[in-house]
Amino acid sequence: MNGSVFILKGNIIYSKSPKEFHICERGYLVCRNGKAEGVYRTLPFRLGGSPIRDFGDSLIIPGLVDLHLHAPQYSYRGLGMDMELLEWLEVNTFPEEAKFESLDHAREAYRIFTENLRQSATTRACVFATVHRPATLLLMDMLEKSGLDTYVGKVNMDRNCPDYICEETEGSARETLEWIRDVLHRNYENTRPILTPRFTPSCTDGLMEELKKLQMRYDLPVQSHLSENPGEIEWVKELCPWAEFYGDVYDRFGLFGADCPTVMAHCVYSDEREIARMKENGVFIAHCPESNMNVSSGIAPVRRFLEEGLRVGIGSDVAGGSTENLFRAMAHAVQSSKLRWRLVDDSLEPLTAEEVFYMATKGGGGFFGKVGSFEQGYEFDAVVLDDSRLAHPQPMDIRSRLERMIYLADEREVRAKFVKGKEICLS
Ligand code: GUN
Ligand code: FE
Repeated sequence: MNGSVFILKGNIIYSKSPKEFHICERGYLVCRNGKAEGVYRTLPFRLGGSPIRDFGDSLIIPGLVDLHLHAPQYSYRGLGMDMELLEWLEVNTFPEEAKFESLDHAREAYRIFTENLRQSATTRACVFATVHRPATLLLMDMLEKSGLDTYVGKVNMDRNCPDYICEETEGSARETLEWIRDVLHRNYENTRPILTPRFTPSCTDGLMEELKKLQMRYDLPVQSHLSENPGEIEWVKELCPWAEFYGDVYDRFGLFGADCPTVMAHCVYSDEREIARMKENGVFIAHCPESNMNVSSGIAPVRRFLEEGLRVGIGSDVAGGSTENLFRAMAHAVQSSKLRWRLVDDSLEPLTAEEVFYMATKGGGGFFGKVGSFEQGYEFDAVVLDDSRLAHPQPMDIRSRLERMIYLADEREVRAKFVKGKEICLS
């Protein structure tokens, strides 16, 4: 028998589809060479000599995937929540992100961000940094050290933002090229670059063209924002009257799926054409329910996306969202879908615990490859949850305990965490 093998013992729960949980009570989860080999009720004889970590009555779930968050915004999470998106960007976001020109500020702010993300149940994330190359590299160094597996983007923006944070088109492209070269030299194991045009209002056509050149030259993925807020969408219509719909802008520049793996955050107001194009191009949607409430954007028709077979994950969107805790994001997704069903459109039933858990694991995990499940061959990202802090007067079944975790868990429940078979230090 070749390769390094270890086994986790506990109550194992994972998804194959949005429809149901797969549960193995007091089971064995086998990791071989960083990949899931199998989940067993009784340990196969051939594995008898392998090391076992017995987590007793704890729950073992796949690591959670945050498909969209902003590392520099972590400092002001929970603040400035009384504005709509565009005003919120001007008043809170741009001044805060400008501070990352200082490496001293970046070092302290990103240290806090990285430590808290490390201690959370998140194992994978798609992260926005700022326009600043040195601070973005520093963030990537820190994330690499944490053992988490991430895509990180130096943000691009060359219009419609204050001078103190606005780039020149050529300068933005040049800095992005330098940043990519710096990243490649660093030979990170778990940290990869992702092109990050902030959103259409921040990027001229010329900059989009430059980014496409870099995308092709280095075969890079892309992340951005799409159809988030009514004011933003009207603005995109004025800026790009030639586009059929908002997402068509990115698509015209070849930055919208197809040969360019893409995550678009929000998609609250995507129309038929935009939904069809995302499906055709395999664009991933990052559903960010708390952010959509906080900056008064709306509620995305997530059930529609799931039913149509679009690729959907969950994003905390810190600091539109106030927390990196993806259990909160899952609960918010269920809760906001209920309000949508009650107040907006009763043809789309509310989301279930099974569906939001799927989105936060295998759904978003698809952007990273075979990630977010314990099916054979999936990368071994696992989180052990000890729910004993939340005592209950009666015995509870495993599904109920997971459902309760979705509503009540935070980093205090995280007892151990593994990324690609390597244990992450939580202390
Ligand atoms: N659209 C453009 N930039 C941002 C941002 O930082 N946060 C959110 N939620 N939406 C955006
Ligand atoms: Fe965002």
